[in-house]
Amino acid sequence: MTLSGRHLISINDFSNEEIAAVLELAEEMNIALTKRKRLLLCEGRELYTIFYEPSTRTRSSFETAMHRLGGTVVSHAEAQVTSSVAKGETIADTVRVLEKYADIIVMRHPLDGSTRLASDYSSVPIISGGDGAHEHPTQTLLDLYTIRKETGEIKGKNVALCGDLRHGRTVHSLAMALARFGAEITCIAPPGFELPDHVRDTLKGYKCKLTEYKSLEDMSSEGSLVLHQPRSKKDHQEGFMDFLLQSLDVLYFTRLQRERFAVRDATNIDQESYRINKQLLAKSRSDAVIMHPLPRINELAYEVDQDKRAAYFRQAGYGVPVRMALIALLLGTVEPKIEEQAKRPTVRIIEGPSGIACPNERCVTNKEKYVSSKFCKVSGNPKVLKCYYCDWMVKTG
Ligand code: NCD
Repeated sequence: MTLSGRHLISINDFSNEEIAAVLELAEEMNIALTKRKRLLLCEGRELYTIFYEPSTRTRSSFETAMHRLGGTVVSHAEAQVTSSVAKGETIADTVRVLEKYADIIVMRHPLDGSTRLASDYSSVPIISGGDGAHEHPTQTLLDLYTIRKETGEIKGKNVALCGDLRHGRTVHSLAMALARFGAEITCIAPPGFELPDHVRDTLKGYKCKLTEYKSLEDMSSEGSLVLHQPRSKKDHQEGFMDFLLQSLDVLYFTRLQRERFAVRDATNIDQESYRINKQLLAKSRSDAVIMHPLPRINELAYEVDQDKRAAYFRQAGYGVPVRMALIALLLGTVEPKIEEQAKRPTVRIIEGPSGIACPNERCVTNKEKYVSSKFCKVSGNPKVLKCYYCDWMVKTG
């Protein structure tokens, strides 16, 4: 069993066993880093990072990871203005050239599905560093690593996802992974900023216990929108918010992704309703874990930083050992410890069904004109198709 040569575009590209193998190797990498041991597992290999969007953590932790593994790095930031894309070059052509230079490529791009498209044209592994509002699978690997490290295990934990759950890609990959590992999910998002349909649909498929609220205050009101978990009368009593906070093992905050929606869409949002400060912390469990993919804007008060429950800088630090593990596994310089591999589900792809375009205007199929739309069947629902690139759903017939 090997992960050598595989791409990582969606967290669902890896089985639970494969994810667990990455996290296990990441732990070994972390121990080696703490002991300042030299790990020359990728000597002679080249990592190419090409980022068409800003990044602090993802790009630099990938590059640090490759340096720590003894490999070399070519770093291409601001590719939207410094690469031939500015002259009109396509993603397909860019990748067909980069694969001649590099052994492995990390790409971040503003279009949903762009990194999937890139992987279709690459003979070397492509790792997505985030594609538009779609997914951010490597952030999820380090988020899972953090939850395991801070709490012991993922199964049975109640994880609250708070903020812009519609346009934030980290929470899409994370929610699906949490569901697959048996966690319960509590979503707190302003109306219009809830998890997108395709993510909810996937969570339903995993029979995830999912509860949704419109704001932190809404957790104590009658107006809550609750899915898959009917609330009892007792739940509506005064103090339910405090009671609920006590059931949350992890509070994962995210910023409003203002670069992905019109300013007017956010005018009614009371940001205090999606913010963690000292008061909320005081009501939370003494062993709660506060996480954030960063960067933070104002949803995470600086006064939280001093609390031992604030895990977000530790979380960002884990990006290096986790990405070291991933690079080594995809380059095949380390084999994963997987005893029995579950069969990967086969996805039936329908190429370009006549006349159907992906309804997501940010989808790569609506921007790169040489790409024809491709859809996958949704199990149990013959009238619905999912875009192969961005997962948005289309009703047919
Ligand atoms: C996230 C991203 O780029 O999606 N950042 C990160 O990689 N840690 C989150 C964000 O930008 O809000």
